[in-house]
Amino acid sequence: MAKYKHHIFICQNTRESGHPRGCCNPENKSQLIKLFKESLTQYGLKDSVRANKSGCLDQCEHGPTVVIYPEAIWYGGVKEADVEEIVKSLSEGRTVERLQIKDSCINSASCEHRKEKLKNFRVHKM
Ligand code: FES
Repeated sequence: MAKYKHHIFICQNTRESGHPRGCCNPENKSQLIKLFKESLTQYGLKDSVRANKSGCLDQCEHGPTVVIYPEAIWYGGVKEADVEEIVKSLSEGRTVERLQIKDSCINSASCEHRKEKLKNFRVHKM
């Protein structure tokens, strides 16, 4: 079998309700892995692109989070309805800009979304 050209990592991390950072799979009912696998088959990519379940990718504020390597294309707020568009765009060598997480948010404590979520959590807890 040839090497995979891309790996799609789909965060499936679940945290307890009320956790300050939230999570990508709050009710542990995510269908994203299944849908990515189905879509890869539909687009004839199942032998060249692998959809992998992932733990926390440290982009919880943007979840559900998906990253595609080796390109390091980060997507946030991925819904079931977005899966086919992501796979189609990958097959065409494009990205889905509307879902991309800004570079300034990746692995950054200064991410505006992270700050906002933690601020709201603190206010909510008072
Ligand atoms: S829980 Fe999904 S990125 Fe952290």
